[in-house]
Formats: sequence, structure tokens, C-alpha cells
Amino acid sequence: MCGILGYIGSQQATPLLLEGLRRLEYRGYDSVGISTMSDNGNLNVLKTAGRVDTLTDLIGNHLPISNMGIGHSRWATHGPATRDNAHPHVGGNCDLALVHNGVIENHDELRTRLESLGFYFKSGTDSEVIAHLIHWHITQRTKLQSNACGELQEQDEFRSRIQGVRRALKELRGSYALVIMFRDQPDYLLAVCNGSPLIIGTTDDGHLIGSDKHAISHSAHQFTRLEDQELAVIRSDSVQILQKTNPGLASREILWKEEDTHSLSFDDSCTYSHRTLQEIHEQPLTLKHMLSNIEDDFHSFPIEFLNNLPKRILILACGTSYHAGLFGKYIIEAISGIPVEVEYASEFRYRESPYQEGTLLLTISQSGETADTLGALREFKQRKQPTVAICNVPGSTLTEESDATIFLNVGLENGVAATKSYTADCAILSRLAMLWGYQKDVNVSRLSLLINDFHTIPQMISNVLDAKESIKNVAHTYEDAKRFLFIGRGFDYPTALEGALKLKELSYISAEGYAAGELKHGPLALVDDQTITVALATPGRTYEKVLSNLEEIRCRGGQILAIGVEDDQRLKRVANNVIYVQKVDEFLQPLVNIIPLQLFAFYLALARGCDVDRPRNLAKSVTVE
Ligand code: F6R
Repeated sequence: MCGILGYIGSQQATPLLLEGLRRLEYRGYDSVGISTMSDNGNLNVLKTAGRVDTLTDLIGNHLPISNMGIGHSRWATHGPATRDNAHPHVGGNCDLALVHNGVIENHDELRTRLESLGFYFKSGTDSEVIAHLIHWHITQRTKLQSNACGELQEQDEFRSRIQGVRRALKELRGSYALVIMFRDQPDYLLAVCNGSPLIIGTTDDGHLIGSDKHAISHSAHQFTRLEDQELAVIRSDSVQILQKTNPGLASREILWKEEDTHSLSFDDSCTYSHRTLQEIHEQPLTLKHMLSNIEDDFHSFPIEFLNNLPKRILILACGTSYHAGLFGKYIIEAISGIPVEVEYASEFRYRESPYQEGTLLLTISQSGETADTLGALREFKQRKQPTVAICNVPGSTLTEESDATIFLNVGLENGVAATKSYTADCAILSRLAMLWGYQKDVNVSRLSLLINDFHTIPQMISNVLDAKESIKNVAHTYEDAKRFLFIGRGFDYPTALEGALKLKELSYISAEGYAAGELKHGPLALVDDQTITVALATPGRTYEKVLSNLEEIRCRGGQILAIGVEDDQRLKRVANNVIYVQKVDEFLQPLVNIIPLQLFAFYLALARGCDVDRPRNLAKSVTVE
């Protein structure tokens, strides 16, 4: 979703901003823009609907010359993806320019008031409201001051500007990260955030600001995070952090941190036709890496938070991460007997969930910036119980705000659809289940068998990948399908949900995931010769039951594509098509079973001409509620 950049220093700002915008591309966006200071002291704004390349073409050989600037990639929330709605937005008569990430909930009433004060709006965005509001408050403060003291000294001018910004911010309801530049102040940028992150970085000759570390780590080498309620005054040679609400100009000390040791490699190279396909193919390696020394090596885990056996575990997450959490519930409860609840983060934060002593919160988020998950974490933290994040991005807000983090260490996931992070989440949750299983001394013989089986998974995944041509052929036969039902039971119920999510987000075909046992309670009404049921039917406790469900579908004329094991003659008889995988312990089978479903969704989407790496309407980092 939206990404923010700012630079002030002695280098040319435009190339640094463009590089930063490129680094933010993976989040998903639909328009881009930059603002720089022109020679004649005006703000120069260049923006367009489309990609960074479109902006680069627009700039052509006329690179704006400026040592400061701001940049933005926008994912539309208020108003469509047009040039006018793209950021930066200007306030007053082009007196200031700003970039905004977040959502302002009371933008309508503010807009009405500003319009009555004579402001003219060029866009339909909530962000332009902030630009005019800040301009209005600064003008009011400056007028007041100069009426009181005549001509303003530099320090008074600065003070009344900060006061003006603070007054404007007080009026905003919602979330925001803002970077602001003023036409008459070529010495500093202002940055402020509330529920939306901003990272400030030092470069050799100045400072960069970005929505995340990746956006600025091409040039910055030390980083600090701006906290909510703070306002930063960023000059090329200094950063001053003020309180957003305190009236004075007292600043706090800044702790600069070097790049995290868990640094996420930002390898931009793609050796496959698509990043999503590359990331699907990386899974044997990411899992192999994670499984090395599994027997006795829990050193990468924050043991101090895990050794103290929780009475209950609460898992909060969204989307694919939620599905991984659901798998976590099955495996943790089966192996350790610790009760686990899994809930959508977006639901948890706005309901009354009873306090229970001895709860450990596990949040799961690839990006670590998902607004719903962060909101749920903050809500839970009021209970003063331990919080552990499972996350892929070091230095992300989730990792900073949790008591401890277990890192996925799968490298940057660039495709919008989560693939390698899902299997890594499931592997980590399996390891946690084993850790707690050992601690409780339950099922120990089963545990050693499980660990043996765990080691075979990377190779099994490779074998599925080797068969990708046949999965592609199967996918092509369903190119014109209108509707899919994904069904699975037990450990593979989450796989069914995840398979359906992958298919709908990549191919835009309607796909629903169900617990197979639920079919007869409603979804069976959907079954006809136009409905394809994708069934997870590998051996396990519920295999027979799933097969009965498939018989019910078949006799109603439904078509069946099954994921099963080779030599399963019964499955062959009932299904129209079978994709084969190898058998592993039922508890771990979902780690293998999801791979053909990822490939199936990928190839089906490709056959339908969809943009698989950047599905429409979606963003990689969902930073608004
Ligand atoms: C689906 C997908 C999303 C994310 C969800 C949570 O492929 O990627 O459903 O899983 O937006 O994102 P994170 O894990 O970054 O919190």
C-alpha cells in the first residue's frame, strides 16, 4: 500500500527518491509522484497514475535539480487512481507539499469547513484535506504572532509553524504518516506519524525518511523509528524529535541503530518468468534452511518467552497468515495439548474478548506492517501478557512492538500473493508445537518420528515442483471455470482455505474454502456441472470421510480435482483429475499439499492473462484498516 519517502542532504534528491519508490513497488500501488524544490524557490510537483517507470518517462532528461524532496506511491483509498489524486498534495497556494499514508476518518467534515474558508480542492483524497488544514493553521498562528510581536524572528517563525502543524494534527481522526516540505523553508522537512510507520535514516551526507527500511537502505546506514505522538524536524545535518502534543520545542535524544542482524536480503533479481513462481520454487530451500539442526536447536527462538509453558495461546493474524495460524492450532493442540484460539486480527480488536490468565499471544505477519494485526497487538498489550511475533521483516513495526520475534528468514517476498511465507509460518508453528510437546513430555515417540518426517518435506516439495508441467496442463483445462469449492478436513482444512484464497486473488475466479464436513450444511447447493471441487484427500484420520463427501459431489454432477497420493485407486475412481503428492505424517502433510494448489492458482491465472505478481486491487503491505 502507500509508501512514503523524503530526502534532504547534499546529493540530488530525485534519483534517490526514484530508487526508493522502486523499492516500495512490492507493496502494491497505482500512482506515484515526487515534489522537489525548484531553483526559483517554488515547489515542483511531478505525479502520474501508473508505475515508477511512467514517472521516470515523464521526467525524461529534465531531472529536477534539488537537494530535498518527497515521494509517494499511492494505493487508492479515497478517489480513483488518477494524476490529481496522486501525491504529493499541495496546501494553500502551493505553499507546502505533503505525502500521506493512512486514512483520515473525518475528512468530509474538514473538507466542508475548508471549502467554506475558500480552499479549492483538486482531488477527492483525504490527504489534500490535511495539506490545506495545515496551511490554514500555520497562517493563523503566524498572523497571531506577528500581530503580537510585529516582524517575526526566525525562531518565532519556526515556533508558530510547529504550533500550526500541531493544531492541525489535533483535528485529524484516523491514521497517518506525513512528510511535509514548505516552499519558504528549504532547510528542513517535517515528519509525523500516528498509527502508520516512518523510519528516518542517516546517509553519508544527509537524511532519508521512508515507510520502511527497504525504501531507504540503498543509501541510509543508521536508522531510527519515529514514534506516534512525535514530530521530527529533519535537516541535512540534524534530526530533532519533538513531542506532537507538548507546546514547547524540547527534543528527545535519538538512538540510531545499525542495520538489523536479521537483515532481509533485498535481492531484486528474478530468474523465473514471475516473482510468484520464483518464490514458490524457493520453498524447498527456505524450509531446508529452517530445518537444519531442528532436533536440539531452538536457539533462534525467544526461549525466555516460550519456556514458560502458556496455559493458552491466542493467535491473531490476517489473510494467508491467519490460515497458517489455523494450521498452528491443529498442530499445537495435537502435539502439546495446549489450547489454541485463532482469530482474525481485524475482529479481535473491536470485540470484548475475555481476559484469561496465562495467555501467550502469537501474531503472524509476513510484512509486520498489517494495520489490523498491529491494532490487535496494541489492544492485547493492555493485558500485560507476553506477545511473540512470527514475522519476515526485521525492523518492522510488529517486531518493534512485540516482546519477541521469531523470524521467517525467507528473504524478501515480492509477489503480492503470500507463498513461501505461508510454508515458513507453518514450519515455525510445527516447531513450536514440538518444543511445547517436549516440554510437556507428551507424545515423545511420535515427536521423533515427526522430526524424521520433517526432514523429508523439502525434497517432497521439490518433487511436486518437478511435476509442474502436468499441474500446468491440469490448470489449463479449467481456464473457463466459473466457480471453485476447495474442501479439506482436519489438518488440511486450513490448506483448503489457503488454496481458495490463492486461486481467487491470482485468477479472480470465485473460489471458496470449506471444511469438507460442512458441505452438506449448505455449500452442496452450489454443486453442479459448472462447479469444480478441489479436494484435499491425502491419507489421514478423515480420509474416508472426505471420500464420502466426494461421492456426494460426484453423484450430483460436480467435477472433482483431487490432491492425493499415488496408487490411490479409490480416489482415481471418484475424481475427474488427481494431482499426486507424496505421503508424509498427517500432521505435516499440509506443507506439501499446499504446493500443487499454489502452482494450480499460478498457472490458471497466467492462462487467463492475469497480472500474477501484482493482482488487481491488492497490496503486499496492508497498512490501512
Ligand atoms: C494473500 C496475502 C494476504 C496477506 C494478509 C496479511 O496471499 O498475501 O492475505 O496474508 O494481507 O499480510 P501479513 O502477513 O503481511 O500481515
